[in-house]
Order: sequence, then C-alpha cells, then structure tokens
Amino acid sequence: MATVVASAPGKVHLIGEHSVVYGEPAIIAAISLRCTVSATRSESMRIWGRELHQTLEATPREWATSLEQACAIHRSCMQSKNFRPLFDLMKKKPMNLPLVASALVLEKLSVRTGANIKIRSDIPIGSGLGSSAALAVSMAKALSTAYCYELSSDEINRIAFEIEQFNHGTPSGGDNSTCCLGGLIWFEKRPPVNIIRQVEGAIPGNLSNFLLVQTRKREKKTGQLLQIVRDLPEDFRVVRVKILGRVTGEMFGALGRKDAATIKRLMNEAQQVLAELRVSTVEIDQLTEAIRRIGGGAKLSGAGGGGFVICFHEDRKRLEETIRGMGYSPCEVQLGVKGVRLEASA
Ligand code: PMV
Repeated sequence: MATVVASAPGKVHLIGEHSVVYGEPAIIAAISLRCTVSATRSESMRIWGRELHQTLEATPREWATSLEQACAIHRSCMQSKNFRPLFDLMKKKPMNLPLVASALVLEKLSVRTGANIKIRSDIPIGSGLGSSAALAVSMAKALSTAYCYELSSDEINRIAFEIEQFNHGTPSGGDNSTCCLGGLIWFEKRPPVNIIRQVEGAIPGNLSNFLLVQTRKREKKTGQLLQIVRDLPEDFRVVRVKILGRVTGEMFGALGRKDAATIKRLMNEAQQVLAELRVSTVEIDQLTEAIRRIGGGAKLSGAGGGGFVICFHEDRKRLEETIRGMGYSPCEVQLGVKGVRLEASA
C-alpha cells in the first residue's frame, strides 16, 4: 500500500489570541517548525500509530485501538456540545489526539477501514505554537490523500477545525487556518464563513528580529485557559477583548508601514491586557518586563499559562543578550512559511 507523507507548520500569534475567540481579529504567522504525518491505508479495522515528538519524548510512544471505539468517543463529544465532561474525562484518561484525529478524518471520508500512521513533530506540545492544529491539518492531508481523496484547502481546514474542537472545546479556528494556509494571516471568526486574509505584503522586512523564547511548560490545556477567560466577570472581559481587537487593527497598519516603534508598543499593550485576563505567568511577566525595559516588545503567544513568548527589537544583539541574561535561550524561527504540503507519496 502507498504511504503518503504530509506536513504542516506550527504558528505564532503576533497578536489577537483569546479575543479572537470572541469575534475580534487576530494576526497569526505560520512558523518553520513542522509536524509530519505518514499515512498508509490498511484493510483492517484498526488504526495503528507511532508518535515521536523530538522535544518531548526520547522514545516513540505506540498506540493502537479500534476505529469504531475512536469514532464513538468523538460522536458523543460533539453531540453533547458541552466540553466540561470531556476535560474531566481527559484528566482521568489523557486523550490520544493522534488517534482521535485519524479516526475523525476516516469518519469524515466515510472510510470503514483503518490506517497505519507515523507522526514526527518538531513543534513543542502545549506551548502556544499550534502543535495540535499542525497535527490535525497534516493528518487530514496525509490520510485523505492515502485514501485517494483530493480535498481542497477549505475541506482540509474544516476537518482540522473539528479535531481542534474535540481537543480544545471552543477554539476560534485561527490556529488550524494558519497551519493549513501558511503565510501571515488576518483571521476573524465569523461562522459559518470566517474572514481569512493573507497579509504577506505586511510581513516586516527584517523577520529575524522576532525571537521566540520558551518559558516553563504550561500546566493547563488551551481549553482550560479559554475557560479561565470565559469565567471572568463579563463586563471586565468584554472591555479587554475590545482593547485587544483595537490593538490588532493597529498592528495590521504598523506591520504594513514597517513601523517598529508601534509594533513594539502594541505587543506590550497586548501583553498587559492578556495578563489582566489572567493568562500570563510570573515568569512571562518578568521576561516581557525585561524586554520592555530595553525598549523592545514582547508578549505571550497562544493560550498562555506558560509556553512561548514572542519578542521583537530592532537591535537584535541587545534583544538576545537580554533574553540570555534572564536565563533563556532565544529560538529563531522563520515566520510566514508555506502551509500544509505533501512531502512524498510512494
Ligand atoms: O495555545 P494555542 O496554540 O492552543 O493557541 C490558542 C489561541 C487562542 O486564541 C487562545 C484560542 C483560539 O482558538 O484562537
């Protein structure tokens, strides 16, 4: 049987995380860390997988279960439209995302046989860089191609969004759209048809001045961090969500003008509001404050609660020195890379 290999990039939020869930815009960049899925059709009813996250596990974790069982879990979750029981269940028995993702893709294609799956990802899990969205997108592309479906980007993206819903409860769809389409995108959640625009022309000239810094791994899942924001008093939350929306609009203009001073100011403003929304950490506050003090811009990326911080300064050397001085290693990634793609088919 032919094996199909597909990969999708992770993402970083330049701005607009959390508020994007409430209909405000976000600007999100695909990054040069990728998740790669190899899929081979199988005549049995089983899905077999092998997963290796370079950053997490030294030895591959293997899993196998029946397709029927995996589909049943997904159906009950979607029917109830209540994700609290799902999170409770996951606490007791951690969900196997690759398994759910592959089962869901096969169900969407009305395929009644299984698959052999191998996953290799260089995107750290649960760190705000879209590891689950990249997995969902690359899984949808690899499996559908292995079963000879030629799905459009929109179709791949829709399936990936359902996988993301399973994993996070009420995501915006921004992560999977960026991992699917690549580039730098302006995203607005407007169901049934979201507003998604490529803003490639707006990528600042010197991208290497954006650096990522990994702080402590987050303890909460994206869905739980979304719940923290949702549980805040409504008037308190609404005001801050609106500020993030306004700041994101201004960021679009600043990126277009390559206006570094405004980009930094807006990143810092967003970080302040995200901290007020209770999704920052002491570590992130200290790091972003240090970068602010040298005249740079820095903010958490994604759901927060730990994970990656995105930093920007025209003086890259000074930025790196400050990051190292705080005990971290700066991580350089390319922003605005290509979205999902087929790597090989043999
Ligand atoms: O931390 P991540 O990579 O799962 O990103 C979450 C981004 C949010 O805006 C907080 C949620 C969403 O669905 O857009």
